[in-house]
Amino acid sequence: MGKFAKVLIVDYGSQYTQLIARRVRESGVYSEILPWTATDAQMENFNPSAIILSGGPNDAGEDGSPPLNQALLRMNVPLLGICYGMQLLALHFGGRLENGKDREYGQTALTVLGNSPLWNDIPRLPIAVWMSHGNRVAAIPENFTVSAKTPSVDIAAMADDERRIYGLQFHPEVSHTAQGMQILKNFLFGIAKLKGDWDIGSFADAAIENCRAKVGDAAVILALSGGVDSSVVAALLHRAIGGRLHCIFVDHGLMRHNEAADVVSMLRRCMPGLNLQLVDAQDLFLRRLAGVEDPEIKRKIIGHTFVEVFEKQASKIPDAKFLAQGTLYPDVVESSSPNGVTIKSHHNVGGLPDSMRLALIEPLRELFKDEVRTMGLKMGLPEEIIWRQPFPGPGLAVRILGEVTAARLEILRKADRIVQLELEKSGLLRSIWQGFAVLLPLRTVGVMGDARTYENVIALRVVDSTDAMTADWTRLPHAVIASISSRIVSEVHGVNRVVYDVSSKPPSTIEWE
Ligand code: XMP
Repeated sequence: MGKFAKVLIVDYGSQYTQLIARRVRESGVYSEILPWTATDAQMENFNPSAIILSGGPNDAGEDGSPPLNQALLRMNVPLLGICYGMQLLALHFGGRLENGKDREYGQTALTVLGNSPLWNDIPRLPIAVWMSHGNRVAAIPENFTVSAKTPSVDIAAMADDERRIYGLQFHPEVSHTAQGMQILKNFLFGIAKLKGDWDIGSFADAAIENCRAKVGDAAVILALSGGVDSSVVAALLHRAIGGRLHCIFVDHGLMRHNEAADVVSMLRRCMPGLNLQLVDAQDLFLRRLAGVEDPEIKRKIIGHTFVEVFEKQASKIPDAKFLAQGTLYPDVVESSSPNGVTIKSHHNVGGLPDSMRLALIEPLRELFKDEVRTMGLKMGLPEEIIWRQPFPGPGLAVRILGEVTAARLEILRKADRIVQLELEKSGLLRSIWQGFAVLLPLRTVGVMGDARTYENVIALRVVDSTDAMTADWTRLPHAVIASISSRIVSEVHGVNRVVYDVSSKPPSTIEWE
Protein backbone atom coordinates (compact mmCIF):
# COMPACT_ATOMS: atom_id res chain seq x y z
CA MET A 1 0.00 0.00 0.00
CA GLY A 2 2.95 2.25 -0.71
CA LYS A 3 1.39 5.31 -2.23
CA PHE A 4 -0.79 6.62 0.63
CA ALA A 5 0.38 8.83 3.46
CA LYS A 6 0.08 6.51 6.46
CA VAL A 7 -0.44 6.91 10.16
CA LEU A 8 1.16 4.38 12.46
CA ILE A 9 -0.75 3.46 15.58
CA VAL A 10 1.39 1.74 18.17
CA ASP A 11 -0.64 -0.60 20.34
CA TYR A 12 0.24 -0.71 24.03
CA GLY A 13 -2.74 -2.93 24.79
CA SER A 14 -5.71 -0.55 24.97
CA GLN A 15 -9.16 -1.92 24.23
CA TYR A 16 -9.66 1.19 22.04
CA THR A 17 -6.67 0.75 19.70
CA GLN A 18 -8.78 -0.49 16.79
CA LEU A 19 -11.11 2.43 17.33
CA ILE A 20 -8.21 4.86 16.85
CA ALA A 21 -7.39 3.17 13.52
CA ARG A 22 -11.03 3.39 12.48
CA ARG A 23 -11.34 7.09 13.33
CA VAL A 24 -8.19 7.95 11.40
CA ARG A 25 -9.44 6.05 8.34
CA GLU A 26 -12.85 7.72 8.64
CA SER A 27 -10.99 11.03 8.34
CA GLY A 28 -9.61 9.87 4.99
CA VAL A 29 -6.12 8.95 6.20
CA TYR A 30 -4.83 5.39 5.95
CA SER A 31 -3.71 3.90 9.26
CA GLU A 32 -2.35 0.64 10.54
CA ILE A 33 -1.66 -0.80 13.97
CA LEU A 34 1.64 -2.33 15.03
CA PRO A 35 2.10 -3.86 18.49
CA TRP A 36 4.75 -2.18 20.69
CA THR A 37 6.68 -5.45 20.38
CA ALA A 38 7.30 -4.77 16.66
CA THR A 39 10.96 -4.26 15.78
CA ASP A 40 12.51 -0.86 15.03
CA ALA A 41 12.95 -1.97 11.44
CA GLN A 42 9.25 -2.84 11.11
CA MET A 43 8.29 0.57 12.42
CA GLU A 44 10.78 2.39 10.19
CA ASN A 45 9.79 0.38 7.11
CA PHE A 46 6.18 1.40 7.65
CA ASN A 47 7.35 4.94 6.93
CA PRO A 48 4.56 6.79 8.73
CA SER A 49 3.69 10.46 8.24
CA ALA A 50 2.42 10.68 11.83
CA ILE A 51 2.35 8.39 14.86
CA ILE A 52 -0.29 7.80 17.53
CA LEU A 53 0.57 5.93 20.73
CA SER A 54 -2.41 4.06 22.18
CA GLY A 55 -3.45 3.71 25.78
CA GLY A 56 -2.78 0.54 27.72
CA PRO A 57 -3.56 -1.28 30.95
CA ASN A 58 -0.06 -0.95 32.50
CA ASP A 59 1.49 1.76 34.67
CA ALA A 60 4.16 3.52 32.62
CA GLY A 61 7.59 3.32 34.14
CA GLU A 62 6.89 0.23 36.23
CA ASP A 63 9.15 -2.78 35.82
CA GLY A 64 8.06 -4.88 32.89
CA SER A 65 5.65 -2.33 31.43
CA PRO A 66 5.93 -1.67 27.67
CA PRO A 67 8.63 0.93 26.94
CA LEU A 68 8.53 3.74 24.37
CA ASN A 69 9.95 2.43 21.11
CA GLN A 70 12.97 4.61 20.38
CA ALA A 71 12.58 4.21 16.61
CA LEU A 72 9.42 6.31 16.86
CA LEU A 73 11.37 9.33 18.05
CA ARG A 74 13.99 9.06 15.31
CA MET A 75 11.43 9.40 12.56
CA ASN A 76 10.83 13.04 13.35
CA VAL A 77 7.11 13.03 12.52
CA PRO A 78 4.22 14.41 14.65
CA LEU A 79 3.47 12.27 17.70
CA LEU A 80 0.24 11.99 19.65
CA GLY A 81 0.24 9.93 22.84
CA ILE A 82 -3.11 8.92 24.30
CA CYS A 83 -3.34 8.01 28.00
CA TYR A 84 -0.55 5.42 28.48
CA GLY A 85 1.03 6.89 25.33
CA MET A 86 1.07 10.34 26.94
CA GLN A 87 2.70 8.94 30.05
CA LEU A 88 5.44 7.27 28.01
CA LEU A 89 6.17 10.59 26.31
CA ALA A 90 6.16 12.48 29.60
CA LEU A 91 8.62 10.02 31.17
CA HIS A 92 10.88 9.94 28.15
CA PHE A 93 11.26 13.71 27.93
CA GLY A 94 11.93 14.13 31.67
CA GLY A 95 8.47 14.61 33.19
CA ARG A 96 7.16 12.89 36.32
CA LEU A 97 4.21 10.56 36.91
CA GLU A 98 2.13 9.93 39.99
CA ASN A 99 -0.39 7.32 40.91
CA GLY A 100 -3.76 9.09 40.86
CA LYS A 101 -5.38 8.99 44.29
CA ASP A 102 -8.80 9.46 42.76
CA ARG A 103 -8.82 7.18 39.78
CA GLU A 104 -10.87 8.82 37.09
CA TYR A 105 -13.09 6.63 34.92
CA GLY A 106 -15.86 7.73 32.61
CA GLN A 107 -17.03 11.08 31.38
CA THR A 108 -15.57 14.27 32.78
CA ALA A 109 -15.40 17.97 31.86
CA LEU A 110 -12.22 19.13 30.15
CA THR A 111 -11.14 22.74 29.86
CA VAL A 112 -8.61 23.42 27.13
CA LEU A 113 -5.81 25.92 27.85
CA GLY A 114 -3.64 27.97 25.50
CA ASN A 115 -3.76 28.14 21.73
CA SER A 116 -2.30 24.87 20.56
CA PRO A 117 -3.33 23.99 16.98
CA LEU A 118 -4.70 20.76 18.51
CA TRP A 119 -7.55 22.88 19.88
CA ASN A 120 -8.62 24.52 16.60
CA ASP A 121 -12.41 24.88 16.58
CA ILE A 122 -12.65 23.35 20.07
CA PRO A 123 -14.92 25.38 22.39
CA ARG A 124 -13.31 27.24 25.28
CA LEU A 125 -16.12 26.11 27.59
CA PRO A 126 -15.64 22.74 29.31
CA ILE A 127 -16.23 19.82 26.94
CA ALA A 128 -17.19 16.22 27.74
CA VAL A 129 -14.30 13.75 27.43
CA TRP A 130 -13.81 10.07 28.32
CA MET A 131 -11.15 9.21 30.88
CA SER A 132 -9.99 5.78 31.94
CA HIS A 133 -6.74 5.73 33.88
CA GLY A 134 -5.06 5.44 37.23
CA ASN A 135 -1.65 6.98 36.57
CA ARG A 136 -1.26 10.59 35.55
CA VAL A 137 1.40 13.14 34.67
CA ALA A 138 2.42 15.14 37.77
CA ALA A 139 5.12 17.32 36.16
CA ILE A 140 5.48 18.02 32.45
CA PRO A 141 8.84 17.81 30.69
CA GLU A 142 10.79 20.88 29.67
CA ASN A 143 9.54 22.69 26.54
CA PHE A 144 6.02 21.30 27.00
CA THR A 145 3.02 23.32 28.13
CA VAL A 146 -0.03 22.14 30.06
CA SER A 147 -2.81 22.39 27.49
CA ALA A 148 -5.91 21.09 29.31
CA LYS A 149 -7.24 20.30 32.79
CA THR A 150 -10.24 18.60 34.38
CA PRO A 151 -11.67 19.11 37.89
CA SER A 152 -9.47 16.31 39.25
CA VAL A 153 -6.52 16.23 36.83
CA ASP A 154 -4.32 19.31 36.54
CA ILE A 155 -2.40 18.01 33.52
CA ALA A 156 -5.02 16.44 31.26
CA ALA A 157 -3.09 17.31 28.09
CA MET A 158 0.40 18.53 27.26
CA ALA A 159 1.82 20.02 24.07
CA ASP A 160 5.15 20.82 22.49
CA ASP A 161 3.92 22.69 19.42
CA GLU A 162 7.41 23.27 18.10
CA ARG A 163 8.41 19.61 17.97
CA ARG A 164 4.79 18.62 17.26
CA ILE A 165 4.51 16.21 20.19
CA TYR A 166 1.22 15.94 22.06
CA GLY A 167 -0.19 14.00 24.99
CA LEU A 168 -3.84 13.50 25.93
CA GLN A 169 -4.83 11.88 29.20
CA PHE A 170 -8.36 11.28 27.82
CA HIS A 171 -9.55 9.22 24.83
CA PRO A 172 -10.42 11.30 21.74
CA GLU A 173 -11.29 8.13 19.78
CA VAL A 174 -14.39 7.12 21.76
CA SER A 175 -17.78 8.59 20.97
CA HIS A 176 -18.24 9.81 24.56
CA THR A 177 -15.59 12.43 23.82
CA ALA A 178 -17.85 14.78 21.93
CA GLN A 179 -15.11 16.77 20.15
CA GLY A 180 -12.78 13.77 19.77
CA MET A 181 -13.01 13.55 15.99
CA GLN A 182 -12.21 17.28 15.67
CA ILE A 183 -9.16 16.86 17.91
CA LEU A 184 -7.90 13.92 15.81
CA LYS A 185 -8.51 15.89 12.62
CA ASN A 186 -6.57 18.84 14.04
CA PHE A 187 -3.67 16.47 14.66
CA LEU A 188 -3.87 14.82 11.22
CA PHE A 189 -4.59 17.85 9.05
CA GLY A 190 -3.61 20.96 11.02
CA ILE A 191 -0.44 19.56 12.62
CA ALA A 192 0.75 16.65 10.45
CA LYS A 193 -0.50 18.42 7.26
CA LEU A 194 -1.98 15.21 5.84
CA LYS A 195 -4.48 15.41 2.99
CA GLY A 196 -7.42 13.14 3.82
CA ASP A 197 -7.57 11.75 0.30
CA TRP A 198 -7.56 8.05 1.18
CA ASP A 199 -10.69 6.09 0.43
CA ILE A 200 -11.68 2.50 -0.09
CA GLY A 201 -11.63 2.88 -3.90
CA SER A 202 -7.94 3.76 -3.91
CA PHE A 203 -7.31 0.93 -1.47
CA ALA A 204 -9.03 -1.52 -3.85
CA ASP A 205 -6.90 -0.33 -6.79
CA ALA A 206 -3.72 -0.85 -4.78
CA ALA A 207 -4.90 -4.24 -3.48
CA ILE A 208 -5.60 -5.41 -7.04
CA GLU A 209 -2.10 -4.37 -8.13
CA ASN A 210 -0.55 -6.09 -5.09
CA CYS A 211 -2.42 -9.34 -5.76
CA ARG A 212 -1.35 -9.30 -9.38
CA ALA A 213 2.29 -8.83 -8.42
CA LYS A 214 2.19 -11.48 -5.69
CA VAL A 215 0.43 -14.16 -7.73
CA GLY A 216 2.44 -13.76 -10.95
CA ASP A 217 1.37 -16.47 -13.42
CA ALA A 218 0.06 -18.88 -10.80
CA ALA A 219 -3.54 -19.83 -10.10
CA VAL A 220 -5.49 -19.06 -6.91
CA ILE A 221 -8.19 -21.15 -5.26
CA LEU A 222 -11.00 -19.62 -3.22
CA ALA A 223 -13.73 -21.33 -1.20
CA LEU A 224 -16.75 -19.16 -1.96
CA SER A 225 -19.54 -19.30 0.59
CA GLY A 226 -21.65 -16.47 -0.78
CA GLY A 227 -21.01 -14.43 2.36
CA VAL A 228 -19.81 -10.86 1.99
CA ASP A 229 -16.12 -11.49 2.77
CA SER A 230 -15.46 -14.33 0.36
CA SER A 231 -17.56 -12.61 -2.33
CA VAL A 232 -15.52 -9.40 -2.07
CA VAL A 233 -12.28 -11.43 -2.21
CA ALA A 234 -13.64 -13.07 -5.38
CA ALA A 235 -14.50 -9.71 -6.95
CA LEU A 236 -11.06 -8.33 -6.17
CA LEU A 237 -9.09 -11.32 -7.42
CA HIS A 238 -11.32 -11.65 -10.45
CA ARG A 239 -10.30 -8.10 -11.41
CA ALA A 240 -6.66 -8.83 -10.61
CA ILE A 241 -6.11 -12.18 -12.32
CA GLY A 242 -9.34 -13.04 -14.17
CA GLY A 243 -9.59 -16.70 -15.16
CA ARG A 244 -6.67 -17.77 -12.97
CA LEU A 245 -8.95 -17.40 -9.97
CA HIS A 246 -10.73 -20.70 -9.35
CA CYS A 247 -13.73 -20.39 -7.05
CA ILE A 248 -15.20 -23.51 -5.50
CA PHE A 249 -18.64 -23.43 -3.96
CA VAL A 250 -19.41 -26.57 -1.97
CA ASP A 251 -23.16 -27.10 -1.68
CA HIS A 252 -23.43 -29.12 1.52
CA GLY A 253 -27.21 -29.11 1.33
CA LEU A 254 -27.43 -27.21 4.63
CA MET A 255 -28.20 -23.83 3.09
CA ARG A 256 -31.44 -21.89 3.25
CA HIS A 257 -34.27 -22.19 0.73
CA ASN A 258 -32.76 -22.08 -2.82
CA GLU A 259 -29.74 -20.30 -1.39
CA ALA A 260 -26.91 -22.16 -3.11
CA ALA A 261 -28.44 -21.74 -6.56
CA ASP A 262 -29.42 -18.11 -5.92
CA VAL A 263 -25.99 -17.12 -4.65
CA VAL A 264 -24.16 -18.86 -7.48
CA SER A 265 -26.30 -17.28 -10.17
CA MET A 266 -26.01 -13.87 -8.52
CA LEU A 267 -22.21 -14.14 -8.38
CA ARG A 268 -22.06 -15.25 -11.99
CA ARG A 269 -24.31 -12.37 -13.02
CA CYS A 270 -22.29 -9.67 -11.31
CA MET A 271 -18.89 -11.10 -12.22
CA PRO A 272 -19.20 -12.22 -15.84
CA GLY A 273 -16.63 -14.82 -16.79
CA LEU A 274 -15.98 -15.82 -13.15
CA ASN A 275 -14.40 -19.23 -12.95
CA LEU A 276 -16.82 -20.85 -10.47
CA GLN A 277 -17.53 -24.49 -9.84
CA LEU A 278 -20.55 -25.55 -7.86
CA VAL A 279 -19.94 -28.93 -6.23
CA ASP A 280 -23.14 -30.71 -5.27
CA ALA A 281 -22.25 -32.74 -2.17
CA GLN A 282 -25.69 -32.73 -0.54
CA ASP A 283 -26.12 -36.50 -0.41
CA LEU A 284 -22.64 -37.08 0.99
CA PHE A 285 -23.17 -34.65 3.88
CA LEU A 286 -26.60 -36.12 4.69
CA ARG A 287 -25.19 -39.65 4.69
CA ARG A 288 -22.38 -38.67 7.02
CA LEU A 289 -24.80 -36.90 9.36
CA ALA A 290 -27.25 -39.80 9.57
CA GLY A 291 -27.99 -40.75 13.16
CA VAL A 292 -25.77 -37.98 14.64
CA GLU A 293 -27.32 -35.84 17.38
CA ASP A 294 -24.37 -34.36 19.27
CA PRO A 295 -23.71 -30.74 18.17
CA GLU A 296 -19.91 -30.94 18.34
CA ILE A 297 -19.77 -34.20 16.41
CA LYS A 298 -22.05 -32.68 13.77
CA ARG A 299 -19.72 -29.68 13.42
CA LYS A 300 -16.66 -31.92 13.14
CA ILE A 301 -18.23 -34.16 10.52
CA ILE A 302 -19.28 -31.16 8.46
CA GLY A 303 -15.83 -29.55 8.76
CA HIS A 304 -13.96 -32.70 7.72
CA THR A 305 -16.33 -33.49 4.90
CA PHE A 306 -16.03 -29.94 3.62
CA VAL A 307 -12.24 -30.15 3.52
CA GLU A 308 -12.38 -33.53 1.80
CA VAL A 309 -14.73 -32.29 -0.95
CA PHE A 310 -12.86 -29.02 -1.36
CA GLU A 311 -9.46 -30.71 -1.57
CA LYS A 312 -10.66 -33.19 -4.15
CA GLN A 313 -11.93 -30.38 -6.33
CA ALA A 314 -8.86 -28.21 -5.75
CA SER A 315 -6.45 -31.00 -6.68
CA LYS A 316 -7.82 -30.78 -10.21
CA ILE A 317 -6.27 -27.33 -10.56
CA PRO A 318 -2.60 -28.17 -11.18
CA ASP A 319 -0.95 -24.74 -11.24
CA ALA A 320 -2.60 -23.53 -8.02
CA LYS A 321 -0.09 -21.96 -5.65
CA PHE A 322 -2.33 -19.79 -3.47
CA LEU A 323 -5.39 -20.20 -1.32
CA ALA A 324 -7.37 -16.96 -0.93
CA GLN A 325 -9.16 -16.17 2.34
CA GLY A 326 -11.43 -13.40 3.51
CA THR A 327 -9.58 -12.70 6.78
CA LEU A 328 -10.45 -9.23 8.16
CA TYR A 329 -8.42 -6.72 10.16
CA PRO A 330 -10.05 -7.35 13.55
CA ASP A 331 -9.05 -11.04 13.29
CA VAL A 332 -5.47 -10.10 12.47
CA VAL A 333 -5.21 -7.54 15.24
CA GLU A 334 -6.90 -9.72 17.85
CA SER A 335 -4.62 -12.65 17.17
CA SER A 336 -1.49 -10.46 17.42
CA SER A 337 -2.63 -8.44 20.43
CA PRO A 338 0.44 -7.41 22.49
CA ASN A 339 -1.15 -8.74 25.67
CA GLY A 340 -1.24 -12.17 24.10
CA VAL A 341 -4.96 -12.50 24.78
CA THR A 342 -6.77 -14.24 21.97
CA ILE A 343 -10.26 -12.84 22.19
CA LYS A 344 -11.78 -15.26 19.71
CA SER A 345 -10.33 -17.74 17.31
CA HIS A 346 -11.40 -17.29 13.74
CA HIS A 347 -12.90 -20.16 11.81
CA ASN A 348 -13.36 -20.04 8.10
CA VAL A 349 -15.74 -22.50 6.51
CA GLY A 350 -14.45 -25.95 7.34
CA GLY A 351 -10.94 -24.80 8.26
CA LEU A 352 -7.80 -24.77 6.16
CA PRO A 353 -6.78 -27.94 4.36
CA ASP A 354 -3.28 -28.40 5.87
CA SER A 355 -2.12 -30.94 3.35
CA MET A 356 -2.61 -28.61 0.41
CA ARG A 357 0.60 -26.64 0.99
CA LEU A 358 -0.73 -23.52 -0.64
CA ALA A 359 0.47 -20.04 0.24
CA LEU A 360 -2.21 -17.80 1.72
CA ILE A 361 -3.44 -14.65 0.05
CA GLU A 362 -5.64 -12.43 2.21
CA PRO A 363 -6.48 -9.20 0.38
CA LEU A 364 -8.90 -7.92 3.06
CA ARG A 365 -6.61 -8.34 6.04
CA GLU A 366 -6.24 -4.58 6.48
CA LEU A 367 -9.97 -3.83 6.34
CA PHE A 368 -12.84 -3.52 8.79
CA LYS A 369 -16.19 -5.15 7.98
CA ASP A 370 -17.96 -1.95 6.96
CA GLU A 371 -15.01 -1.04 4.70
CA VAL A 372 -15.35 -4.46 3.04
CA ARG A 373 -19.04 -3.77 2.46
CA THR A 374 -18.32 -0.35 0.92
CA MET A 375 -15.64 -1.87 -1.28
CA GLY A 376 -17.98 -4.67 -2.42
CA LEU A 377 -20.65 -2.15 -3.40
CA LYS A 378 -18.07 -0.08 -5.29
CA MET A 379 -16.99 -3.18 -7.17
CA GLY A 380 -20.54 -3.80 -8.29
CA LEU A 381 -21.63 -6.59 -5.96
CA PRO A 382 -25.39 -6.52 -5.34
CA GLU A 383 -26.91 -5.37 -2.05
CA GLU A 384 -28.27 -8.89 -1.41
CA ILE A 385 -24.72 -10.16 -1.04
CA ILE A 386 -23.32 -7.13 0.74
CA TRP A 387 -26.04 -7.23 3.39
CA ARG A 388 -26.41 -11.00 3.77
CA GLN A 389 -26.76 -12.02 7.39
CA PRO A 390 -23.86 -13.94 8.91
CA PHE A 391 -24.51 -17.63 8.34
CA PRO A 392 -22.66 -20.37 10.22
CA GLY A 393 -20.33 -22.63 8.23
CA PRO A 394 -22.22 -25.77 9.36
CA GLY A 395 -25.40 -24.15 8.09
CA LEU A 396 -28.86 -25.35 9.07
CA ALA A 397 -27.35 -28.44 10.73
CA VAL A 398 -26.78 -26.37 13.89
CA ARG A 399 -30.36 -25.09 13.71
CA ILE A 400 -31.89 -28.57 13.62
CA LEU A 401 -31.56 -29.91 17.15
CA GLY A 402 -31.18 -33.66 17.03
CA GLU A 403 -30.68 -35.65 13.86
CA VAL A 404 -30.41 -33.84 10.51
CA THR A 405 -32.56 -35.55 7.89
CA ALA A 406 -33.86 -34.47 4.50
CA ALA A 407 -37.39 -34.26 5.91
CA ARG A 408 -36.37 -32.08 8.87
CA LEU A 409 -34.28 -29.86 6.61
CA GLU A 410 -37.35 -29.34 4.48
CA ILE A 411 -39.46 -28.28 7.48
CA LEU A 412 -36.80 -25.86 8.70
CA ARG A 413 -36.26 -24.34 5.25
CA LYS A 414 -39.96 -23.64 4.84
CA ALA A 415 -40.26 -22.06 8.29
CA ASP A 416 -37.05 -20.06 7.87
CA ARG A 417 -38.20 -18.74 4.51
CA ILE A 418 -41.33 -17.33 6.15
CA VAL A 419 -39.15 -15.69 8.82
CA GLN A 420 -37.01 -14.02 6.12
CA LEU A 421 -39.99 -12.86 4.06
CA GLU A 422 -41.86 -11.43 7.04
CA LEU A 423 -38.77 -9.69 8.44
CA GLU A 424 -38.18 -8.16 5.04
CA LYS A 425 -41.80 -7.05 4.77
CA SER A 426 -41.57 -5.39 8.19
CA GLY A 427 -38.55 -3.36 7.03
CA LEU A 428 -36.44 -4.71 9.92
CA LEU A 429 -34.17 -7.08 8.01
CA ARG A 430 -31.34 -4.51 7.74
CA SER A 431 -31.43 -3.35 11.33
CA ILE A 432 -31.28 -6.76 12.99
CA TRP A 433 -28.05 -8.76 13.18
CA GLN A 434 -29.57 -12.18 12.47
CA GLY A 435 -33.06 -13.62 12.37
CA PHE A 436 -33.82 -17.29 11.76
CA ALA A 437 -35.89 -20.35 12.64
CA VAL A 438 -34.67 -23.29 14.74
CA LEU A 439 -36.30 -26.73 14.63
CA LEU A 440 -36.55 -28.24 18.11
CA PRO A 441 -36.21 -31.96 18.87
CA LEU A 442 -39.63 -32.29 20.47
CA ARG A 443 -43.29 -32.44 19.63
CA THR A 444 -46.22 -30.77 21.34
CA VAL A 445 -49.97 -31.21 21.28
CA GLY A 446 -52.15 -28.84 19.30
CA VAL A 447 -55.58 -28.65 17.78
CA MET A 448 -56.29 -27.97 14.12
CA GLY A 449 -59.87 -27.90 12.92
CA ASP A 450 -61.48 -30.48 15.17
CA ALA A 451 -58.49 -32.76 15.30
CA ARG A 452 -55.70 -33.20 17.81
CA THR A 453 -52.19 -32.73 16.41
CA TYR A 454 -48.84 -33.84 17.79
CA GLU A 455 -46.18 -31.96 15.85
CA ASN A 456 -42.86 -30.08 15.81
CA VAL A 457 -41.98 -26.77 17.49
CA ILE A 458 -40.14 -23.94 15.75
CA ALA A 459 -38.16 -21.43 17.82
CA LEU A 460 -37.81 -17.95 16.36
CA ARG A 461 -34.40 -16.37 17.07
CA VAL A 462 -33.88 -12.69 16.22
CA VAL A 463 -30.96 -10.75 17.72
CA ASP A 464 -29.35 -7.32 17.69
CA SER A 465 -25.57 -7.17 17.81
CA THR A 466 -22.60 -5.28 16.42
CA ASP A 467 -19.99 -8.03 16.37
CA ALA A 468 -21.67 -11.29 17.52
CA MET A 469 -19.50 -11.29 20.65
CA THR A 470 -22.51 -10.07 22.61
CA ALA A 471 -26.12 -9.93 21.46
CA ASP A 472 -29.56 -9.08 22.75
CA TRP A 473 -32.86 -10.50 21.60
CA THR A 474 -34.69 -8.10 19.32
CA ARG A 475 -37.85 -6.52 20.70
CA LEU A 476 -39.76 -7.38 17.53
CA PRO A 477 -43.16 -5.70 17.19
CA HIS A 478 -45.90 -8.11 18.32
CA ALA A 479 -47.57 -7.85 14.93
CA VAL A 480 -44.43 -9.19 13.21
CA ILE A 481 -44.13 -12.10 15.65
CA ALA A 482 -47.82 -12.80 15.17
CA SER A 483 -47.65 -12.94 11.37
CA ILE A 484 -44.52 -15.13 11.41
CA SER A 485 -46.13 -17.51 13.89
CA SER A 486 -49.48 -17.84 12.17
CA ARG A 487 -47.92 -18.26 8.73
CA ILE A 488 -45.53 -20.97 9.94
CA VAL A 489 -48.25 -22.97 11.69
CA SER A 490 -50.65 -22.75 8.78
CA GLU A 491 -48.16 -23.13 5.90
CA VAL A 492 -45.48 -25.51 7.17
CA HIS A 493 -46.75 -29.03 7.34
CA GLY A 494 -45.57 -30.73 10.54
CA VAL A 495 -45.34 -27.65 12.81
CA ASN A 496 -48.05 -26.71 15.31
CA ARG A 497 -46.24 -24.28 17.64
CA VAL A 498 -43.84 -21.32 17.46
CA VAL A 499 -41.92 -19.90 20.43
CA TYR A 500 -39.80 -16.71 20.63
CA ASP A 501 -36.29 -16.92 22.09
CA VAL A 502 -35.82 -14.15 24.68
CA SER A 503 -32.25 -14.87 25.75
CA SER A 504 -29.25 -12.61 25.34
CA LYS A 505 -25.63 -13.53 24.69
CA PRO A 506 -24.06 -14.14 27.16
CA PRO A 507 -25.16 -16.38 28.78
CA SER A 508 -26.84 -17.94 25.72
CA THR A 509 -25.24 -18.06 22.29
CA ILE A 510 -26.82 -16.79 19.10
CA GLU A 511 -27.05 -20.23 17.49
CA TRP A 512 -28.73 -23.02 19.45
CA GLU A 513 -25.93 -25.51 18.87
P1 XMP B 1 -22.70 -18.00 18.55
O1 XMP B 1 -23.75 -19.04 18.34
O2 XMP B 1 -21.38 -18.56 18.99
O3 XMP B 1 -22.44 -17.35 17.13
O4 XMP B 1 -23.18 -16.88 19.44
C1 XMP B 1 -21.75 -16.16 16.90
C2 XMP B 1 -21.81 -15.83 15.42
O5 XMP B 1 -21.03 -16.77 14.66
C3 XMP B 1 -21.85 -17.49 13.74
N1 XMP B 1 -21.38 -18.88 13.80
C4 XMP B 1 -20.51 -19.42 12.93
N2 XMP B 1 -19.92 -18.92 11.81
N3 XMP B 1 -18.81 -20.97 11.45
C5 XMP B 1 -19.09 -19.70 11.07
O6 XMP B 1 -18.56 -19.26 10.04
C6 XMP B 1 -19.35 -21.55 12.54
O7 XMP B 1 -19.08 -22.71 12.85
C7 XMP B 1 -20.25 -20.73 13.31
N4 XMP B 1 -20.97 -20.94 14.45
C8 XMP B 1 -21.64 -19.79 14.74
C9 XMP B 1 -23.27 -17.30 14.23
O8 XMP B 1 -24.21 -17.41 13.16
C10 XMP B 1 -23.20 -15.92 14.83
O9 XMP B 1 -23.28 -14.90 13.84
